[in-house]
Amino acid sequence: MVRNVAEEIAGLEAEDFYLLSGVEQGMRFSEYVDRDKLPEFSRLTPEEVDYRLDRCERRGLLKRKTIQYEGYRLSFEGYDALALHTFAERETVEGVGAPLGVGKESDVYEVHSYRPFALKFHREGYTEFREVNREREYTADHRHVSWMYTARKAAEREYDALETLYPTVSVPRPVDHNRHAIVMERLDGVELERSRLEPEQVVGVMELVLSEMATAYEEGYVHADMSEYNVFINSDGITIFDWPQAVPIDHENSVELLQRDVENIVSYFQRKYPAQVDAVDTDRITNAIRDGTFETSLAKK
Ligand SMILES: Nc1ncnc2c1ncn2[C@@H]1O[C@H](COP(=O)(O)OP(=O)(O)OP(=O)(O)O)[C@@H](O)[C@H]1O
Ligand SMILES: [Mg+2]
Repeated sequence: MVRNVAEEIAGLEAEDFYLLSGVEQGMRFSEYVDRDKLPEFSRLTPEEVDYRLDRCERRGLLKRKTIQYEGYRLSFEGYDALALHTFAERETVEGVGAPLGVGKESDVYEVHSYRPFALKFHREGYTEFREVNREREYTADHRHVSWMYTARKAAEREYDALETLYPTVSVPRPVDHNRHAIVMERLDGVELERSRLEPEQVVGVMELVLSEMATAYEEGYVHADMSEYNVFINSDGITIFDWPQAVPIDHENSVELLQRDVENIVSYFQRKYPAQVDAVDTDRITNAIRDGTFETSLAKK
């Protein structure tokens, strides 16, 4: 697991961040950045680099290797530190609070600002990275940066989707984005999976989720990872979150992905509330979403 670096950051100085971003720049060209190139990348004197390397390595923000040449790369914590530092400079984030969720592919924290937000660090490349590392498979190709690149791309995709969909679709309001991290509105409520609905609410909530999916489709996106774990519910309604894998509706697999999303949601409600949800024609729902007639098809029922 990646450590929370928020406390570490408070003890860092501006030059430490120059060094970290120097390492980040050097990692565009090689897996580990040659120590001798760091003064140039970080615009620090060699003496400063020595001093800062030691501080950052001790804090687990950098990793060192000494085979072939002495080189450094960022750890995920180092990458987190850079993103957090940027958010702090932009005054998006004042402090990091408790974890809100640890997903397979992210760490989400509550953050303090002028109002409570959620900060999501993407970890998409992390597993692959650990495996590759263990097998010592890496060569001089570009897989060396894959974890940073993969996580950054996922954050960009999620932020783009949120920006397009908010506020027409009920998604968390996007606030800021940097590197592999996004800041968004902090949602109140619980995941659908942890909720227990009253019998008379069940069908209405299921239709609400499907109608948000229909609106997202009208706005150009299929979520592509719909499940009871990616929907929040509270007394005001539902919110669909976790959008990094969303695909545009002109994507070659968008129809199958939409179909699968509809089936996932419907089958969740059927399993959990068999007495309230009868047989549902998921093909008909998928088609109605694609035709833009989902709401009217409900009315006709
Ligand atoms: N905006 C938010 N407000 C409050 N809590 C949130 C918010 N976004 C995410 N969370 C919490 O963090 C958890 C993980 O978030 P999310 O589902 O976006 O990440 P993930 O890593 O992609 O998850 P998965 O395990 O589905 O791959 C959520 O289940 C939820 O509990
Ligand atoms: Mg999720």
